[in-house]
Amino acid sequence: MSDVLNPPESAEGSTSVPLKPLGKVVAVTSGKGGVGKTFVSANLAAALAKRGHRVLVLDADLGLANLDVVLNLYPKITLHDVFTGKAKLEDAIIRAPGGFSVLLAGSGMVEYSRLTPEVRDDFLRIMAGLVPHYDVVLLDTGAGISDVVLFAVSLASEVLVVATPEPTSLTDAYATIKVLAGQQKRKIIRMVINQTARLGDGRAITTQLQQVLDRFVTSEDGKQLRLVHMGDIPADNSVRQAIMRRQLLLQSMPGCPAAMAISQLALKIEETVAPKAA
Ligand SMILES: Nc1ncnc2c1ncn2[C@@H]1O[C@H](COP(=O)(O)OP(=O)(O)O)[C@@H](O)[C@H]1O
Ligand SMILES: [Mg+2]
Repeated sequence: MSDVLNPPESAEGSTSVPLKPLGKVVAVTSGKGGVGKTFVSANLAAALAKRGHRVLVLDADLGLANLDVVLNLYPKITLHDVFTGKAKLEDAIIRAPGGFSVLLAGSGMVEYSRLTPEVRDDFLRIMAGLVPHYDVVLLDTGAGISDVVLFAVSLASEVLVVATPEPTSLTDAYATIKVLAGQQKRKIIRMVINQTARLGDGRAITTQLQQVLDRFVTSEDGKQLRLVHMGDIPADNSVRQAIMRRQLLLQSMPGCPAAMAISQLALKIEETVAPKAA
């Protein structure tokens, strides 16, 4: 397979050594849990698929996986079976309703909530097998700054931090961004502000966060970390309705404000990180 199968050796037990980022892999992460990562990952995947991209979403929230629930899928074979060698990678990839592929963690992945050398190797092997086959791989990661989450994010070339306007979410987003700047030497972090009340709130929040970062966080080489505002998604009751019905918002209510915002986000992703092949 491709040379990403042979990632650089990392120091024993170190979680801070950033791995060489792979192409077109976008980590969807957050400081606080429950802010909308899975909702954004699934619907953004559908929006990108609709625009002609080959997309795969990997449920990388190993301990608390629930992408299967959101998509109403009952996988027979999961990431767990691939990790344990019971199934082949290609047999665990299934088609989601929105025209994209998914690799679901399912339950029984609790043992993977700690980053052991095995988990690290399994993850790398799977990513290496996946990346060449898709235009975009979205990693729906867990929240926070645990070593498993940071490792999953380290596999991505681009990071999308999801935050809501709540002060607790913003404080946790700030903590996550600081760690990503320090440990992974990220220069650009992309922001999605979910559940906004008014148009323009998200941009103002990203600007505020940038100001705090400028004051308190400088990378070793003196360069500033840049936050790029990718879009706002309004608080919209349709989101809850779609999740209750276990449907993709983009399919069941494509005209509602949150779905339109996700379509805009897909366009912005296409313009910035995942240009369409000519
Ligand atoms: N834009 C939104 N408007 C209204 N509710 C939302 C929105 N985004 C997310 N939610 C609610 O937040 C819940 C948690 O979202 P989820 O994607 O599971 O979060 P995470 O993956 O970050 O833990 C959803 O079940 C939904 O009810
Ligand atoms: Mg989630």
